[in-house]
Amino acid sequence: MKGVIPDCLAKLVKDKFGNDKWEKSLEIAGLPVKTTFLVTQDVPDADVLKVVDAVCKVLNITLQQAADAFGDYWVNEYAPKIYKAYYTGKSAKEFILNMDKVHSNVTKNIPNAQPPRFDYSWTDDKTLIMTYKSKRGLIEFLIGLIKGVGKYYKEDLAVTKISNDKVRIVFP
Ligand code: HEM
Repeated sequence: MKGVIPDCLAKLVKDKFGNDKWEKSLEIAGLPVKTTFLVTQDVPDADVLKVVDAVCKVLNITLQQAADAFGDYWVNEYAPKIYKAYYTGKSAKEFILNMDKVHSNVTKNIPNAQPPRFDYSWTDDKTLIMTYKSKRGLIEFLIGLIKGVGKYYKEDLAVTKISNDKVRIVFP
């Protein structure tokens, strides 16, 4: 996975919980405590998952709580600084429907990128089923990111996991 994901996680943990919690997480994950991640660097998926697990242990939170914190931080603080060009949508719905294209475009010129892809289908005019296509199985992160988009657009979205590759989003 691209280093941009663990770099964002590092900034979140340092910013909200302190440098010592981040270093402790790296240590528990079996990585050097001074590890840094470059945005375009390839980081083994297994290392990222180990760090995520370690963060849950150190902060005593569940995987979904960690993914919610990540999604909020990514959408509202981290990505607006480096990917502002993708924030063109006027609503959470527009932003989310654009995410398949964004993930394919943003990684187009990056060797070895394997971005997640998404399919969309509506069950009624407010209810979207989003299918998550990635071998990484990070559906909790998908859910946390969608909640982050709701916060960004100040919309109260109801997000429910249907299966390991599908979520239901009800828009207000
Ligand atoms: C401006 C907004 C966004 C940008 C520029 C962006 C970009 C990226 C990039 C570069 C990666 C790493 C891909 C790789 O390693 O190959 C990634 C991963 C991911 N993104 Fe986004 N993203 C954005 C918002 C979102 C949102 C809103 C969602 C959910 C609806 C989302 C879902 C995910 C997931 C689940 C992953 C983890 C990788 C995986 O599951 O395979 N992203 N994103």
